[in-house]
Amino acid sequence: MDKKFYVTTPIYYVNAEPHLGHAYTTILADFMKRFYTMLGYDSYFLTGTDEHGDKIYEAAKEGHTTPEKYADRVSGLFRKTWKEMGIDNDDFIRTTEERHKKVVRDILQKVYDKGDIYFGNYGGFYCVGCERFFTEKEMVNGKCPDHDKELDYIEEKNYFFKMNNYQQWLIDHINENPDFIRPERYKNEVLSMLKGEELEDLCISRPVTRLSWGIPLPFDENYVTYVWFDALINYISALGYPQGEKFKKYWPVSEHIIAKDIVKPHGIFWPTMLKAAGVEPFCHLNVHGYWIMEDAKMSKSLGNVITPSGLIEEYGNDEIRYFFLREMTFGLDSKFNHEIIVDRINYDLANDLGNLIKRTFNMTEKYFQGRIPKFEPEEPAQREELIKRLKSSSERYIENARKFQTSVGIESFWEFVRYLNKYIDENKPWHLFKEKNNNKLSSVMRNLLEAIYSVSFLLSPILINKSFEVIKALGAEGEDADIEGIYSLSNLTDGYKICDIGILFPRIDLKKDNGKKDDNEKEIEGLIDIKEFSRVDIRVAEILEAEKVEGSDKLLQLKVDSGLDERTIIAGIAGEYDPQYLKNKKILLVANLKPAKIFKRESKGMLLAARSEKKGKPILIEIDDSIPTGARLG
Ligand code: MSP
Repeated sequence: MDKKFYVTTPIYYVNAEPHLGHAYTTILADFMKRFYTMLGYDSYFLTGTDEHGDKIYEAAKEGHTTPEKYADRVSGLFRKTWKEMGIDNDDFIRTTEERHKKVVRDILQKVYDKGDIYFGNYGGFYCVGCERFFTEKEMVNGKCPDHDKELDYIEEKNYFFKMNNYQQWLIDHINENPDFIRPERYKNEVLSMLKGEELEDLCISRPVTRLSWGIPLPFDENYVTYVWFDALINYISALGYPQGEKFKKYWPVSEHIIAKDIVKPHGIFWPTMLKAAGVEPFCHLNVHGYWIMEDAKMSKSLGNVITPSGLIEEYGNDEIRYFFLREMTFGLDSKFNHEIIVDRINYDLANDLGNLIKRTFNMTEKYFQGRIPKFEPEEPAQREELIKRLKSSSERYIENARKFQTSVGIESFWEFVRYLNKYIDENKPWHLFKEKNNNKLSSVMRNLLEAIYSVSFLLSPILINKSFEVIKALGAEGEDADIEGIYSLSNLTDGYKICDIGILFPRIDLKKDNGKKDDNEKEIEGLIDIKEFSRVDIRVAEILEAEKVEGSDKLLQLKVDSGLDERTIIAGIAGEYDPQYLKNKKILLVANLKPAKIFKRESKGMLLAARSEKKGKPILIEIDDSIPTGARLG
């Protein structure tokens, strides 16, 4: 197979437990693997843990344990977390494994034999947190800018890698391959580091007298390898460099994903190391921004939600994947907070996608006893148009996702999801049913079911559980499908009885902040905030049937189509409105009111009417027919 894809995450330090930043990078890599697999690629996905160095050694000491035990525990935690999140990595590399250590030693020896490593004196400012020396230019008031700690001046003899032997080569390589580092801002960042002045040689050893927790240098056992020179090599040691089949197969198509914090080691150390070792450079370095927790309140009040496990427990795995992939513009920082997650879930997943599926499944149940209707050849019902729109949205989704631009890609795809809701409103299957226009009804419903199948298939690298629930409910396969087949809108089986899948993405109500409010949030009497208002789900509904409630002068029983379902409500407008007049009128419905029993009948919701004065007569709010049924107010 010539279509191949290899994606990696950074290997995470084991001095901290998995957090949402790690989860994002890993979800993105997992998405990319599944996405390329969906496009018919032979894909391989590597993640792992970075276990040597001062930081881990210090953390183990603090925890009164050995670095080995410490690394075993936290590395295990990473694996457990990824499993819980359904991450489909093909390998998990630990830098303490023999397969890795061997390759590190081989490469060190190779570069040493070539004359690119020498023994020399070194004096510099060292930050334990960053595991590296800082130049005076990089320090801020004598401190490490990331850790805000005074840096110690350390002088010792060490081994150095002559990085600047490859400086010009790297500049040329980046210029010849403009997307070697992407997005462009990070390419520019690396180029400005390279062009400014000569690169300093990289100190690649630590004396064992100062640090013993590392891979001994093959040519001097008084030294261990600097953790970055060790860690970067994981990307090829895991593939069985130099002779392994996987190395030959996947290295030529390698895609690294990192965040902006580790651009220098990946953009400068790594390619020059590879060049010195005689290995071809990776294909692309894909750099994303940071999730910013600007909201201090959030971390306090939601505490546990910030761990990946807490996040998925609170919101659901598919939902969090969708949020991460949709919300972050690749390369830029993104805000992380509770409201944004809830909005994404409520608007995109519950409203757009969830409603589309629910409405279509409900109508299939009602009009065809849950059986997939046939296409009626004499009634094409805009099939070509649907295929055209599906293709155009998918192509933009695919083109962007290929370049890791998931947010732009999903946004384009959502145009099609929203269009399908519009397609329902425009074709009004409930009218077709009433008019007994069965041919058109069949075709419209079949188109919708086919489109939902295609949407589910294309979204399956994001919604790794729920997409397959839908695909299964439609009686289709999914795994073996290919893109061209997906565009054909003819994948389902006539007469198959679809299963009820309930509500796929329930709406989430924002929780109160433990009842605590700060001064500027104190309630002003009589006023509600926008969050409270947005909890009320007011929608345009169509009255299908109306009749008087026996034994009451005031009450009417109305059957309405809310866009979500058909339901019965009891309304106190019998004195003012004739049932006949109300038929097919569009009104405003409070759709998420708790059901109530009125005159022994269940009322699911309330219609909105106005009164000009207290005790005045209710005047129904009538809605123009051009506003689609199910449209939400707000
Ligand atoms: N061990 C090194 C990487 C060696 S790779 C050869 C390391 N580990 S780390 O545990 O600190 O992980 C850093 C990575 O975690 C980032 O590059 C990014 O992928 C992810 N993130 C950590 N915090 C993050 C955010 N707040 N936002 C987004 N990603 C974040 O560096």
